[in-house]
Amino acid sequence: MSSGGRSHTAPPPSGRQPVTLPRLAEMKAAGEPIAMVTAYDYPSATVAEEAGVDIVLVGDSAAMVVLGYKGTEPVSMDEMIVLGKAVRRGLETPLMVGDMPMGSYEASNELAVQNAQRLVKETGCQTVKLEAGGISVERARAIVRSGIPVMGHVGLTPQTATALGGYKAQGKTAQGAIKLCEDALALQSVGCFAIVFEAVPAAITEAIVEKLEVPTIGIGAGPATSGQVLVFHDLLGITTGRMAKFVKRYADVHEEMVGGVRSYVDEVRSRHFPEPDHVYGVEPAELAEFRRYLDQESLASPKAWDWEPLP
Ligand code: KIV
Repeated sequence: MSSGGRSHTAPPPSGRQPVTLPRLAEMKAAGEPIAMVTAYDYPSATVAEEAGVDIVLVGDSAAMVVLGYKGTEPVSMDEMIVLGKAVRRGLETPLMVGDMPMGSYEASNELAVQNAQRLVKETGCQTVKLEAGGISVERARAIVRSGIPVMGHVGLTPQTATALGGYKAQGKTAQGAIKLCEDALALQSVGCFAIVFEAVPAAITEAIVEKLEVPTIGIGAGPATSGQVLVFHDLLGITTGRMAKFVKRYADVHEEMVGGVRSYVDEVRSRHFPEPDHVYGVEPAELAEFRRYLDQESLASPKAWDWEPLP
């Protein structure tokens, strides 16, 4: 498929059934691990689709890995909606979760429901995620009551990382672990269909998930959760620099991309690109006629006085 000379990959027919909330519950019950990844645009969504991912999160981590902000705080609802719409176009089967950015839900239940509805209506995500316990539990309850499924998120919650003392593991003290456990139980009690555990010691996660009925998804929380999530750009090595302890890199796409673009630049400069395969041809007769037109005396050297002055 192409448009204006630019091509894009059509999502392949996956042959899989769309992932539903009952399917996730079933997977948890059967001990079948759930694979979740973030995506922020059409190509990353088609990759997730083709790779057989179960849940795709349009995470507010987009703020950092796509938009270049220092943290997740600045990203807006409008930005998340543009990204979410692109992701929707590339997804067929994974369950799509829209992340609620900072400032889109904390102030009141009304605001939370309004923005959750915007995400669902405008991007086509089926569910939303919001961070932390505390007031978020009330907001999650309101959104669930409005009919939108909610994924909770405990442990390291980047939107409030400053208050947590920075980007570091949570629940490392007994008090911290109790708070984390209470938040997770509270999120479950208001109807969250799943809960993300981020940067939590494996033994604490293991102890808490035993008390939970809903599926749990870990990122830096050990192997006891029902599934795992990683940020697309981290796992593929699109992001560079220091990574969180919990990131495993499965590819080095940044190096590949730099190498590809560098080769292109070299070939442009050395005139090796474009090659004959990359150019359009023209019928010799058409070319000859065009050349005769160019060779006309009147076109040979246009003179300044040939041009009409501007009115
Ligand atoms: O925004 C995000 O990518 C997330 C995941 C790390 C769970 O919240």
